[in-house]
Parts: sequence; C-alpha cells; structure tokens
Amino acid sequence: MGLFVSFEGIEGCGKTTQIHLAADSLVKRGIPCLRTEEPGGTTLGRKLRETLLNRGPFILYPETELLLFTAARAQHVREVILPALEEGKVVLCDRFADATLVYQGYARGLDIEVISFLDSFVTNSLKPNMTLLFDLPVEVGLNRARERIARLNLASREDRFEEEDLAFHKKIREGYLLLAHQEKDRFRVIDAAGSINDLQNTVRFHIDKLVNRE
Ligand SMILES: Nc1ncnc2c1ncn2[C@@H]1O[C@H](COP(=O)(O)OP(=O)(O)OP(=O)(O)O)[C@@H](O)[C@H]1O
Ligand SMILES: [Mg+2]
Repeated sequence: MGLFVSFEGIEGCGKTTQIHLAADSLVKRGIPCLRTEEPGGTTLGRKLRETLLNRGPFILYPETELLLFTAARAQHVREVILPALEEGKVVLCDRFADATLVYQGYARGLDIEVISFLDSFVTNSLKPNMTLLFDLPVEVGLNRARERIARLNLASREDRFEEEDLAFHKKIREGYLLLAHQEKDRFRVIDAAGSINDLQNTVRFHIDKLVNRE
C-alpha cells in the first residue's frame, strides 16, 4: 500500500506551487508518485470543478455545493486514488476531505456531523497518512491568489471562493487550525509566509520522513 498526502490551506497559501515541486522531487529520485487535485482528478471531477469554482449564471446553494464536492470525491477515490495506493505510489493530493469540513462546515455553516458522515461514505473512510497545512494570514493569501487570478481570462479564473469576504476566509483559516489541533498526528502545520524555496525544503523534509517511515 502506498502513502496518501494531502495539501491544505486557504486560497493562495501555495498548495499548488508546492505540490508540483514535491512531485518533481519524488519523480527525480525514482519514487513512484501521483499528483492529483480536488475537485478534479477525474474527467467527471473536472466537469464538476468548472461548476464549483467558476462563477455561474445561477446560485449554488451550500447543500448543492457540498453534494457536488463529495460526488467528485467519490469518483476520485475509486478511479484514481485507491488504484494508485494499491500500486504502492505516493499520492499527493491538492485539497481533500478536510477542505469540505472547513469550507462547507465551519465557513458555510452546514452540519459538521452530516459532512463527516457523507465524507466517510464517499471516501470509504480513507484518510490521508499525512496532511500538510500551509498556514498564512488571509490577507496575504488572498493578495497572492488575486494576483494569480488577474493573469487569467474570465472563464477560467476559478475565483468563486476568492470572491467571499475576509470573514469567510478567516473562518477557513481557523477551521483548518482547529482540525490540525484535533488530529495532531496527521497534520503538519507549515508557516506559509516563507519563500517558495524554504517551504519546499520543509515539505520535502516531512514527505521524506513519511516515505522512509522514520
Ligand atoms: N511562498 C510564496 N511566496 C510568495 N508567493 C508565492 C509563494 N507560494 C506561491 N506563491 C504565489 O502565490 C500565488 C498563489 O500560489 P498557489 O496557486 O500555489 O496557491 P494555492 O494555495 O494553490 O491557491 P488556491 O487555493 O487559490 O488554488 C501564485 O501566483 C504563486 O506563484
Ligand atoms: Mg491551487
């Protein structure tokens, strides 16, 4: 069985930047790995991602949002993540179930027990072996994310969540820190204010430790 590592944190904290570098480093060293993302990772997931992350001509109610995220996850776990783990790969996933708990639970206010139940149903109780949480003040993260978004065209900006107010993003940050506090063995909280290079060294340190079963 392989190892499952998720990357979590507020918008713009550097998850995607770091996951690419981490995957490159594993590949260079001949360690079989798979980089994937949520929502996405499958053909169906990418269709749902478009609906979930881009601003559409209709209101997406929190309950609908929750079911679409978890539907994408059900497909992703079975089609991509479990087969890769069975092949012994290190699976690096850009966001996973913790994101649903904090976005739809702590921030949107949906019932945490309903979300936990749904998540254990769709993941068949699969949990990451390790979760890297990139912690950053929301103002810094949002500035980084907005600079990235400004470079993209309107249809592919994936900015539906970035458009939420500061209070929403503060709840996301606090929600993640609460989860990390509740599951200290699984989470590694990384101060994401450092340089891309410094952060990558920290990420590599944690992944190598896990891979070497230290
Ligand atoms: N450590 C860093 N210092 C400064 N800028 C950074 C750092 N890491 C990433 N960036 C830049 O900030 C922007 C957001 O980074 P990235 O896309 O990796 O964040 P993310 O966590 O994946 O965001 P999102 O949740 O919106 O997908 C990018 O333009 C990236 O180049
Ligand atoms: Mg990203």
